Amino acid sequence: MAGVDYLERIPNNVNLRDDRRLLRALEEWQPRFLDWWKEMGPEGFQANEVYLRTAVSVDRDGWAQFGYVKMPEYRWGIFLAEPEADRRIAFGDHLGKPAWPEVPGEYRGVLRRLIVTQGDTEPASVEQQRHLGRTCPSLYDLRNLFQVNVEEGRHLWAMVYLLHAYFGRDGREEAEALLQRRSGDGDKPRILGAFNERTPDWLSFFMFCFFTDRDGKYQLASLQESGFDPLSRTCRFMLTEEAHHMFVGEMGVGRIVQKTCELMRQHRTDDVRRHGGIDLATVQRYINFHYSVSLDLFGSEVSTNAANAFTMGLKGRFEETKKDDDHRLVDATYPALCLEGDRVVTRELPALTALNERLRDDYIADCQRGVDRWNRTIKDHGIDVELRLPHRGFHRAIGSFGEARISPDGRVITEAEWDARRREWLPTPEDAQFVATLMRPAVEPGRFAGWIAPPARGINGLPLDHEYVRLTRKES
Ligand SMILES: [Fe+2]
Ligand SMILES: [Fe+2]
Repeated sequence: MAGVDYLERIPNNVNLRDDRRLLRALEEWQPRFLDWWKEMGPEGFQANEVYLRTAVSVDRDGWAQFGYVKMPEYRWGIFLAEPEADRRIAFGDHLGKPAWPEVPGEYRGVLRRLIVTQGDTEPASVEQQRHLGRTCPSLYDLRNLFQVNVEEGRHLWAMVYLLHAYFGRDGREEAEALLQRRSGDGDKPRILGAFNERTPDWLSFFMFCFFTDRDGKYQLASLQESGFDPLSRTCRFMLTEEAHHMFVGEMGVGRIVQKTCELMRQHRTDDVRRHGGIDLATVQRYINFHYSVSLDLFGSEVSTNAANAFTMGLKGRFEETKKDDDHRLVDATYPALCLEGDRVVTRELPALTALNERLRDDYIADCQRGVDRWNRTIKDHGIDVELRLPHRGFHRAIGSFGEARISPDGRVITEAEWDARRREWLPTPEDAQFVATLMRPAVEPGRFAGWIAPPARGINGLPLDHEYVRLTRKES
């Protein structure tokens, strides 16, 4: 029976078996998801076996099972973290009341928007990365790319589950639309800007995982505080997977930095391009770009939407329950950097409308910790260069800084200075062309492209020369 087979293929801890209506809705959605995956997922590798981690349950033994699977046969499951007994809403107008097991009717529209916006980023990143497999720097990296991709696919399932289970007909329509929009499409683009940018090469991919996936971490972390309990539990489990994506990003950039330092020492030059490496100035420009477009994802410094989502108890702050204030913030203020004329100043904003800025601050501190680790690598090689996060106002399109030109060191500058110096600060077409010349596949087990150092260890205790992706189809 197709139904039985379907249940076996979708591991879940939400009692799908007992919910015929939901089961039917997902049964109808699943083939369209697979059509989308085959059309927009990793190009050229759908028939290959990949050594992937699959979650089959949320407990320790079940959430990270490793084995070979062809990606279209990946078992995209639906998992909610275990419920917390007597969980209470931790902030906003409903502070202290029991968390909602169902959607509160008056917040239905706002909640659906939050879920759709989050859900839209998941397939978007798969679309952005779909051509990267062809130019992988190693089988290890190829496998990591695919691991990230199938998990973003699962995150789409996670959001679609909420839409189907709790939002009736409009939820089903939104679930459909999530498969219709396309990253970068002129007519039907993905909802958020950074998810319509191209990810043309592996330097961009690692930067994306480090900076843009980390925005995802902070969005999920605030949604995990939600008073709507199914959303909270869904996000809590997604965060366990998200950690791996940021690991891929941080280690990827870190290994590039390491290789660059090795080449700098070996050849006694900063100009490692001639030796097949990516110079630190180029790495810095890619940081500037990916960091700034990711900062925009947090929205404006002053946002009534953010204030409302908080007051309604739908979206909290990062680590809301660990904060020791009143969790209502009605009279509180929060210091935020803003543009005033041609100066950058700190202003005390009402804390409620400044929630985006506060989340952005948490994000920036987290990014800085990763950059510090890259800088340690540079220092360990005795090289006197520091990578830096540019000023938060640099190259912004959203919020008060979007109206001005800000240099990486935080000065308000003229359009003329911007034009004269933007090539120093942002990736140039020549940078992209150079990086593209390095993008030649390294697919023999154990081999790594010359612009990136091998990682410290393999996956799940396996050696670096393990065949993480089987490129030749073996007949059984
Ligand atoms: Fe995700
Ligand atoms: Fe992710």
